[in-house]
Amino acid sequence: MKKALLSAVALLAAACPVLAQKFEGLALTPPMGWNSWNTFEVNIHEDMIKEMADILVESGMKDAGYTYIVVDDGWEALERDEKGQLVPDPEKFPNGMKALADYVHSKGLKFGIHNCAGKTTCNGFPGGRGHEFEDARIYASWGVDYLKYDWCDHGDANSKETYSTMRDALYAAGRPIVFSLCEWGDTKPWEWAQDVGHLWRTTGDITDCFDCQGEYDMGLKYVLGLQVGLQQYAGPDHWNDPDMLEVGNPGLTLTESRAHFSLWCMLAAPLMAGNDLTEMTPEVLEILTNREAIAIDQDALGKQAYQYMAHPNKQIWIKELSDGDWAICYFNDGKDAYTQRINWEHYTFLDGTYTMRDIWKHADVGTTDKKYEFRIESHDVLLLRLSKVK
Ligand code: GAL
Repeated sequence: MKKALLSAVALLAAACPVLAQKFEGLALTPPMGWNSWNTFEVNIHEDMIKEMADILVESGMKDAGYTYIVVDDGWEALERDEKGQLVPDPEKFPNGMKALADYVHSKGLKFGIHNCAGKTTCNGFPGGRGHEFEDARIYASWGVDYLKYDWCDHGDANSKETYSTMRDALYAAGRPIVFSLCEWGDTKPWEWAQDVGHLWRTTGDITDCFDCQGEYDMGLKYVLGLQVGLQQYAGPDHWNDPDMLEVGNPGLTLTESRAHFSLWCMLAAPLMAGNDLTEMTPEVLEILTNREAIAIDQDALGKQAYQYMAHPNKQIWIKELSDGDWAICYFNDGKDAYTQRINWEHYTFLDGTYTMRDIWKHADVGTTDKKYEFRIESHDVLLLRLSKVK
């Protein structure tokens, strides 16, 4: 009897570590792609998702690093089928999700989908609670590469337990799927989700506004403020997610879009474009594909910037990069332009002389052995990369 018990315990111990883990190494740098929610909400369908995939490739966004096409809320039929399985809305996705995933894969992209840890999604479609293992299997069978998992209608569920169940279900299904927790920062996922998912939202929903402060429609300045102090929790394969990009959406000026993009790159944020790619202007494309900014986001060291200084209307964010480089972002979040004076002697973490690269001018603008003055317009940034003079 005792022997049988011992071998049962040994069996359990051997089985648990295998199940209780996420797929490692799927997001060594912050995931990049396009998601349907910020512009289209639930008004999505197969042809438009395919068109977005086409544009991601043709526009050069794919070459710049955008890899995932993520279908957000609203793809499901209102009921599960008679076997209890999730099925797509037959009108919006007449050929099913596998065919759509195949199309996205044929473009050299990866396919993502949204669902929810609660009983229903935020828009009333069937959620995953109690169906985690069968849902994970169906996602795997469709060829899903990325799952964004929401937190509406969760009742009294415990967040860590619930998301861990889905993590285990994904692992058991056997297909490597990036697991994106969308729990809005409610229960501080940065403190517990490192072994659960590859990224976790830190706030409620962003909106295309510079400084709105609603609980469900937060402007970029407000979302940014909520990231202060979270840098210690981010790193390769486990990222803070300050929500998707509003770059190019109507509520932001071009300057604000540029600031938004720069700051999200500083935060090592997942870069999920959320604009209507069919309407994208060359200027917006230029922002989204600034490879020097993207290189800051995707830097292999995986450090998130910290807020070095915050004065009224002025913020300075600093990100350590690999090879001894540093990225520095001066952000004018006020109404008036100002002159930023820089005396590099005050930046005591620097060691020697560095060249200063202006990431938006794509030009070297000096070296750190002199003092500088830069004019920064309202809602604009100065984004610099410092590289040590060898
Ligand atoms: C929210 C989530 C959004 C979007 C939406 C869909 O909870 O934060 O990003 O996914 O649900 O209903």
